[in-house]
Amino acid sequence: MSTLLNSQAVAKKIDGKKSAESLLENTRREVDELKKRGVYPCLAVILVGDDAASQIYVRNKLRIAEKTGIKSVELCFDSQLTEAELLSTIEGLNKDLQVHGILVQLPLPKGINEAAIVRAISPLKDVDGFHPQNAGGLLQGQRVITPCTPLGCLLLLQEYGGDLTGKHAVVVGRSNIVGKPMASLLLHAHCSVTTLHSRSQNAAQLARQADILIAAVGQPQMIEASWIKPGALVIDVGINRITLADGSTRLIGDVDYDSVSMVAGAITPVPGGVGPMTIACLMQNTVLAAELQTQQAVLSQPG
Ligand code: GUN
Repeated sequence: MSTLLNSQAVAKKIDGKKSAESLLENTRREVDELKKRGVYPCLAVILVGDDAASQIYVRNKLRIAEKTGIKSVELCFDSQLTEAELLSTIEGLNKDLQVHGILVQLPLPKGINEAAIVRAISPLKDVDGFHPQNAGGLLQGQRVITPCTPLGCLLLLQEYGGDLTGKHAVVVGRSNIVGKPMASLLLHAHCSVTTLHSRSQNAAQLARQADILIAAVGQPQMIEASWIKPGALVIDVGINRITLADGSTRLIGDVDYDSVSMVAGAITPVPGGVGPMTIACLMQNTVLAAELQTQQAVLSQPG
């Protein structure tokens, strides 16, 4: 007797944990090489205030740094810290030759100007790639330190989608951290790029033309199946914690996974998709920062 099968294909699940593990394997080897040359990569992470999500992110970053052989320094301050005190801490880390990467976990408490803090970090130690010098360099296609989440998304797209040349990529969201650098990276990978945002008209209709869709809006399950072209590659950057009726909490993305996975060709889960790649790219950026600073030190030697 034949069994009636659902004719709709279910999207391939993109395994961000596995891809991150193999990226970290490479980074570990690069760290070992640097150590043989007497360079001990070190990442300083600054956490201000008691935001629960930020505490978890920072803990994960420090744990993976240790696993990768990267030394880490954690600097925690309460939310009363002033902008001047934070600037002075960053100044100290900029001057410290033992520290190669500086990451200030965002968001910062009200009263501290994030843009001023990001500008204060030396561009060579800016492992987030948020400094205007790195952001501008990325736009111009220079080899700069690139924001970790968009870089992780690009690596997943290349692994699961191959050559991206000529594909139509739609980025939903225009933040400085994800949306804008993501659009730049996709343009450099020769995609045709559309950015959608809260003021876009006909957003779902535009999104349905995408071979590649990146969701980075911070709105739980906003992207539904009706936004997706059959077979599209879907990358979900959202990490939203929701509380269920029984009081328990759950992490969900910006994409409605269950409905979208009936239309898409491949899709990242939340958790286990982009998140692990972001951290793996942070480790890669720390190694790149250590290399850039070592080259700089050689170039600035007299004679
Ligand atoms: N907060 C949310 N994402 C990030 C990130 O990528 N870097 C920093 N520093 N803070 C964040």
